[in-house]
Amino acid sequence: SKPKVYVTRAITTEAMNILEEFCEVSSWPEPDPVSRDVLLENVSGKDALFCLLTDRIDKEVLDKAGPNLKIIATMSVGYDHLDVNEIKKRNIKIGYTPDVLTDATAELTVALLLATSRRLLEANEEARNGGWKAWSPFWLCGPGLNGATVGIVGFGRIGQEVAKRLKPFNIKRLIYHNRSEKAKEAKEIGATRVNLEELLAESDFVIATCALTPETKEMFNDCAFKKMKPTAVFINTSRGGVVHQESLVRALTHKTIWGAGLDVMTPEPLPVDDPLFKLKNCVILPHIGSATIEARSTMAMLTAKNILAGLKGENMPAELKI
Ligand code: GLV
Ligand code: GLV
Repeated sequence: SKPKVYVTRAITTEAMNILEEFCEVSSWPEPDPVSRDVLLENVSGKDALFCLLTDRIDKEVLDKAGPNLKIIATMSVGYDHLDVNEIKKRNIKIGYTPDVLTDATAELTVALLLATSRRLLEANEEARNGGWKAWSPFWLCGPGLNGATVGIVGFGRIGQEVAKRLKPFNIKRLIYHNRSEKAKEAKEIGATRVNLEELLAESDFVIATCALTPETKEMFNDCAFKKMKPTAVFINTSRGGVVHQESLVRALTHKTIWGAGLDVMTPEPLPVDDPLFKLKNCVILPHIGSATIEARSTMAMLTAKNILAGLKGENMPAELKI
C-alpha cells in the first residue's frame, strides 16, 4: 500500500500533485493553522509529515504519530519549532527549505530596514491623515545608509545576501558576528568578523539573521540594547525568540536605540494591543520574509520532494543534518 502523508495546511496544487502520485495524502485544507487536536489525531499512523513553522512538533506529536513516521519535512528554513532531539532519537529524517528563500528574505530585510530608517509607514500615515501640512525641513527624517556601519548577527546564507544587497548603498563598514568564521564568504563580500560587543557598539544598523538556538535565545536583551548607539536601528528577520521583547519595548520607549523593524516577534500573531504597536519608532510586519510567490511555491515543492525522496530511501534534496 502507498505511504501515508499528512499535510498540515493548504499548499500548492503542484506540490499536492507530486505527493499524491506516490502517497496517500490527507491534509488540513485551510489557510489557517491546523489546531493541535486535529494535528494529533491526524498524524497517527502516518509515514511522513509535511509541516509548517506554526506547527510545534514535539514528543507528544511524535508519540501520537507512532513508529511508522520516518520523515518530517517543514516548509521553512527555520526549525526551532521541531524538537530535533526527540526526532533524531526516533531515527526520523528531517527535511527543510534552505536556499530557495534566501533571496526573498534578504530582499525583505532590506525593505524593512529602509521602511524603518526612512519612516515609510509613518510617512504614509501622515500623508493620508492630514498630517502633511507643507514640506518641512526636519519632518520625518531618519538615519540613512550612506556612510553607515552595518552589523549583521548571523552571517549565514541570508545574512550574506543582506550584506551584498546593502553594499551598493555606499555603507562605510560591514561587520558581522557569527559562531563559525565564514572567512571565505566574508572576504568575498568585504565584511569583517567582530565580537558581539564591538558589533553592538559600532553599528548604525544591527540586523539579526541568525537562527534561534539555545545560544541565540533572547540575546537581544537590556544589556545588548544598552550597548547599541542611541541612533541605532535594529532589524530582526530571524525569529522573535532571539529578542527579549520587554527589553526591546523599554529600549524603544526610552530611546536607548532609535528604532526597530521586526518581521518576527513573540508571540505571532502579535496581539493588536501589544505595547510594540503603540511605538511610532517600531515597524511591524507579519512574518513575510520569504513571501514572494516564487519562493513560497518553490518551498512547497521542495518540501514535497524532501518527503518523496525520504520515503523512497533516496537522499533528500534538502535534509537537515545536525
Ligand atoms: C521562515 O521564517 C522560515 O523559517 O522559513
Ligand atoms: C539561515 O538559513 C541563513 O541562511 O542564515
